[in-house]
Amino acid sequence: MTSNVRPENMERITTKALADAFIEEQIAEVRAQVGDKKVLLALSGGVDSSVVAALLIKAIGKQLVCVHVNHGLMRKNESENVIKLFEGELDANLIYVDATDRFLDLLAGVSDPEKKRKIIGKEFIEVFADEARKLEGVSYLAQGTIYPDILESIKQAEGKKAVKSHHNVGGLPEDLKFQLVEPIKLLFKDEVRVVGEALGLPHEMVYRQPFPGPGLGVRCLGAITRDRLHALREADAILREEFDKNGLAGKVWQYFVVVPDIKSVGVKDESRYEGWPAIIRAVNTTDAMSATIEEIPYSVLHKITDRITNEVEGINRVLMDLTPKPVGTIEWE
Ligand code: XMP
Repeated sequence: MTSNVRPENMERITTKALADAFIEEQIAEVRAQVGDKKVLLALSGGVDSSVVAALLIKAIGKQLVCVHVNHGLMRKNESENVIKLFEGELDANLIYVDATDRFLDLLAGVSDPEKKRKIIGKEFIEVFADEARKLEGVSYLAQGTIYPDILESIKQAEGKKAVKSHHNVGGLPEDLKFQLVEPIKLLFKDEVRVVGEALGLPHEMVYRQPFPGPGLGVRCLGAITRDRLHALREADAILREEFDKNGLAGKVWQYFVVVPDIKSVGVKDESRYEGWPAIIRAVNTTDAMSATIEEIPYSVLHKITDRITNEVEGINRVLMDLTPKPVGTIEWE
């Protein structure tokens, strides 16, 4: 198995030719490692797990079992798109688990951000483990670990404190012992994207903005309720649609909506209309350690405000967050 240290002379993968060579090398390595055994993968639809899935489908076809857990905190149509691409187009062996109720029931009334993260992370592992136990003959677990993850764990092992507890699959229960398959663990993110395109994944998927593991759970501030989560999902979809239409999607690193648990008074159809505000956050960064605010043309902001307040039930104001990181973190929780 490859070591966890990137060799100093390893060439940066910047072209399709280099990516193709990497893919061929990994296909041979994975085949040699797993033989005719089954491999399990938690497929979130994020760049890393999607690239691993596409690579392993090429290497071992139906021996790969992908599990997509919908924790009910995905963005609009996100799970549908994962199913369409991987099951529909790439013919993957895909198990879809709609665990929305399990997550939202556990999260009811919980307002502390770190508690929310812990609940989501722990339940994610449990749902995934439940699926893994139902399967027979699986010896391997594939993971979309990339090189910055390895560097981050080294930092944490050295005792440096993380600001937030980011959640990834890991720490499966004792009874589930798998050997790991981590084909992209020595790659940096830009290289993962080049490999993703070389594998034929759609450009929008390979270059999609980062989305936190706990999903909309950390953007529906405080204790999550289904109605506010629904409003957030719809408002976020409108923001993304308008950014796409106005050529901002490729220019802004991360952009999303946050909905806090406060209401203000408004007026609609000549009646009092109490609603939540939708807060727009659009930031640019290179490493997520610091971030600047992207200037969005007023015409686009007006359009977004119009659409959100008219189309989304429960939202009566749209605000823009102008705080760089530091002092604000990118996410509100
Ligand atoms: P912050 O909010 O710490 O975010 O400035 C930096 C980057 O990390 C993402 N983020 C997370 N990603 N699990 C994740 O996988 C998390 O719990 C989490 N919290 C924040 C955030 O979206 C941004 O890209």
